[in-house]
Amino acid sequence: MRALVVNESMYGNTHLVAEAVGRGLRAHAKVSVVPVERADRAAVQAADLVVVGGPTHGHGMSRASTREAAVEAAQKPDSSLHLDADAEGEGLREWFDALGPGGSGVAAAAFDTRFDLPAAVTGRASKGIHRRLRHHGFTEVAAPESFFVVKGNTLEPGEEERAVRWGEHLAAHVAAAEPAS
Ligand SMILES: Cc1cc2nc3c(=O)[nH]c(=O)nc-3n(C[C@H](O)[C@H](O)[C@H](O)COP(=O)(O)O)c2cc1C
Repeated sequence: MRALVVNESMYGNTHLVAEAVGRGLRAHAKVSVVPVERADRAAVQAADLVVVGGPTHGHGMSRASTREAAVEAAQKPDSSLHLDADAEGEGLREWFDALGPGGSGVAAAAFDTRFDLPAAVTGRASKGIHRRLRHHGFTEVAAPESFFVVKGNTLEPGEEERAVRWGEHLAAHVAAAEPAS
């Protein structure tokens, strides 16, 4: 089985979660973890499972304006925030727009990172990702999941381990559904 983990990340937390999900998937799959701008349609169509994650901005998926705000916050002289290597690329909204009907039945799952408060308060990017996965023809194999950051924009303790377990669960589910070869 081949799995592709597509991630958008400004401060590196979603990237860390994506890598952890990838470690979990490796029990059952050959895995690539890639930033959103390197996940082209060919990579998506070659995968048996596509996992898509991004940070929650303004109660939903990021926009160019929220990503600019995130960069500006990190560039303030007193900031302790560090930008991820791929932070200044495009976001998942643009990625989905360019993808077209690329899913064609490929198994998929959505995740986000956000603050650890009820989703009614924080919003959650995974809801928008989930909606777009369906719209683009993917078949979702798990409910959207959230992983939590603390106010200073680092992952809560235990979240990487939880992401590994979520990845294991996803891969086991898809592997069990595949015809034996
Ligand atoms: C411009 C901006 C808007 C944000 N809005 C929200 C929000 O509405 N709800 C929330 O839970 N977190 C919000 N956050 C916090 C992000 O969810 C957090 O920075 C992100 O999960 C960290 O992931 P990353 O390190 O991969 O960028 C916001 C962050 C930024 C920079």
